[in-house]
Amino acid sequence: MEMSQWMDADLHREFVAEQTDAMRLYTAPDGWVERYGVDVVISHKTDAALERMSTELYLWTLNVGYTFRRIFARFLPKQNADREAPRLMLGDAATNLQTIATERMLRYGIDFSAGYSVGLFIDQRENRRFVRDLAPKTLLNCFAYTCSFSVAAASVGSRTVSVDLSKKSLARGRENFALNALPTNDHRFIADDVMTVLPRLARKEEKFDVVILDPPTFSRSHKGKTFQVESDYETLLLAAIEVVAREGHILLSTNCTSLDERALEVMARYCLKATRRAAAFHRERPLPDFPRGEGASTLWMRMR
Ligand SMILES: C[S@@+](CC[C@H](N)C(=O)[O-])C[C@H]1O[C@@H](n2cnc3c(N)ncnc32)[C@H](O)[C@@H]1O
Repeated sequence: MEMSQWMDADLHREFVAEQTDAMRLYTAPDGWVERYGVDVVISHKTDAALERMSTELYLWTLNVGYTFRRIFARFLPKQNADREAPRLMLGDAATNLQTIATERMLRYGIDFSAGYSVGLFIDQRENRRFVRDLAPKTLLNCFAYTCSFSVAAASVGSRTVSVDLSKKSLARGRENFALNALPTNDHRFIADDVMTVLPRLARKEEKFDVVILDPPTFSRSHKGKTFQVESDYETLLLAAIEVVAREGHILLSTNCTSLDERALEVMARYCLKATRRAAAFHRERPLPDFPRGEGASTLWMRMR
């Protein structure tokens, strides 16, 4: 997909046919447009970009025959600290600010009032599919957010452990299990710092067939401990290697623009050497709705 090009009608039909209604519709240097079920979010750097994308969106919906319920606009500030929740731009202000998005038949709760992120990172779609194809017995979801990887794994019979600092996000994770009629009896939700949970799991000699590592660029725990992805990813991966099962998989992912897939691989090779372990690497197929280089950088390791 080229930059500044709206999703092709055939591709949109393919998504709908596989029961996926969460997708990137358009990407440009000054913003992008995403569909979440019946609602649309326009993320924009300038007012002019918002105006242009709104007009083009209207023409695109006529062309592909998709009728949206509401449009939300989300300003993209220069500093992450200035990020805000999307605001309703078009549609009934009396309806609640939640909806449900579907990805390959799994349902995820979307909340436009919860903050900058609405509840589902669509650029992890192929990685969630890979987890479903693997059907691991156990999955450890670090930085779980709304537990989408856990839901994907649970849908194919895995037992999961989801770890996130945010109790609210984990509560939304439980709701996502419920949305898919998945009981949570075989699943654990730990509201704590991944950097302290991983060594604790290692001490108990717990092992997982899949470990998901998708940290934020920066965070601060309730105890004031900071996580800075560029300097702490290595420590994180070394701790994750201690809890991955033989022949298990680790997903390395980041949105940090200074850490591309090559940098992730260099770091992973260093950690393997330090722990005298070996692994094979692979990347999932490129997302058909994201231009090359857009979306999270991701890399899978298969331990040997
Ligand atoms: C980028 S999101 C993860 C997205 C998730 N992997 C997904 O695909 O939906 C980052 C999450 O990490 C959590 N977080 C940040 N620092 C953390 C830490 N030190 N320990 C546990 N969770 C943390 C945040 O609360 C947030 O939910």
